Amino acid sequence: MKVAIPRERRTGETRVAATPESIKKLLALGLSIHVESGAGITAGVTDEAYVKAGATVEPDVAATYADADVVLKVQRPLAKGEGDVDEVSLMKSGAVLIGALAPYDSADNLKLYAKQGVTSFSLELIPRITRAQSMDILSSQANLAGYMSVIQGAEAYGSPLPMMMTAAGTVPPAKVFIMGAGVAGLQAIATARRLGGIVSATDVRPASKEEVQSLGANFIAVEDDEFKQAQTAGGYAKEMSPEYRAKQAALISEHITKQDIVVCTALIPGRPAPTLVTEDMVKTMKQGSVIVDLAAERGGNCPLSKAGETVVAHGVTIIGPANMPAELPAGSSGLYSRNLVAFLTPMVSKESGGLAIDWDDEIVAKTVLTRDGAIVHPQFAPAEAEASKTKPASKKAADPPAEESAPADDAPDQTGAPAS
Ligand code: NAI
Repeated sequence: MKVAIPRERRTGETRVAATPESIKKLLALGLSIHVESGAGITAGVTDEAYVKAGATVEPDVAATYADADVVLKVQRPLAKGEGDVDEVSLMKSGAVLIGALAPYDSADNLKLYAKQGVTSFSLELIPRITRAQSMDILSSQANLAGYMSVIQGAEAYGSPLPMMMTAAGTVPPAKVFIMGAGVAGLQAIATARRLGGIVSATDVRPASKEEVQSLGANFIAVEDDEFKQAQTAGGYAKEMSPEYRAKQAALISEHITKQDIVVCTALIPGRPAPTLVTEDMVKTMKQGSVIVDLAAERGGNCPLSKAGETVVAHGVTIIGPANMPAELPAGSSGLYSRNLVAFLTPMVSKESGGLAIDWDDEIVAKTVLTRDGAIVHPQFAPAEAEASKTKPASKKAADPPAEESAPADDAPDQTGAPAS
């Protein structure tokens, strides 16, 4: 069975879906691995290293995709009009596509996979159950992003993080505030503590309080009745009420004036990131302080942050990474490719070496987007059906409406089973 690893083509993407280490594991499953020439260069993997690991290096994108049974990607393949190659049309009918397919933002692409007869799996939708932890790309990539956010914040900050006692006097430790204490936030706390900062953190999920404190940071939050209910069955945060947000803003306004580095990581799956640091709050921050807004690519926790840019506003440096894991491509590709191996392994028959997908398996059912020419995921299929009811038949295929990408209202609740 041919497995294709094409070069990532989306702007700013430096990761690759397979490393020599993961290729050895895929070969052990009886698969034949075909990597596009140059696919690993930005992650520090040469074509020679892939060949040494046992892969075939293909000269171009067409040869890589040709007749592939499984395509492993980091970001979703380019569709017609998205770049110099229409990767979707290079996939054969019946091919399996696995990657971070960003289904909330790419309703049109989902239709193209269905039209092409591609069976697509989106790894962002992996349920947060114990069995799926080794496949969880959101966790593996968020860990590295959380680490890197503190490193970048420290670099932009004009003083050291640890307290330094020198003959010339004492440099006080930096105060670091982490907003959102999920996977990225907890790693940011640990990193800032290791670097010697005085760390505090906030979140809306009650479970995060103990985790924050166990890492040696102060927990700052409005702990009212709404806070006690803020975690969904899937382990994610709910969108908070305007009343809660007002109370939270009052608390944060007070705290943020004393901080040197603020790392924002607060996200709600399938929705724009919540605004936590308003422009008025930025105005009250110390000159020379730094905000690293990891939520920038989903609209930002600070409205002044710009995805992919660093701006200075009211004397505060605001870093808005568009794709933080891509800034550590070797490390992030290493973890991502292991997630892929863990996801693909149960789908491969030990006897035949072909695909044997258990469609009733919870992980499969929650990640499959398209199958047999249709969008089958319940979060995305109903929007398609709804649109076809309201649109004239002649326009349907040619002019899909952008709002079809909007997630269902209860998207976070459908995302996974109870966190363990
Ligand atoms: P995420 O990336 O969706 O969000 C980041 C953080 O922002 C979350 O902790 C969330 O509660 C917080 N947040 C959202 N709105 C906020 C607001 N208005 N104010 C302050 N904070 C806000 O979440 P992530 O990091 O992917 O995971 C969340 C939790 O899921 C983890 O901490 C963990 O408990 C659980 N988890 C479970 C796994 C499992 O396999 N059992 C694997 C990974 C995570």
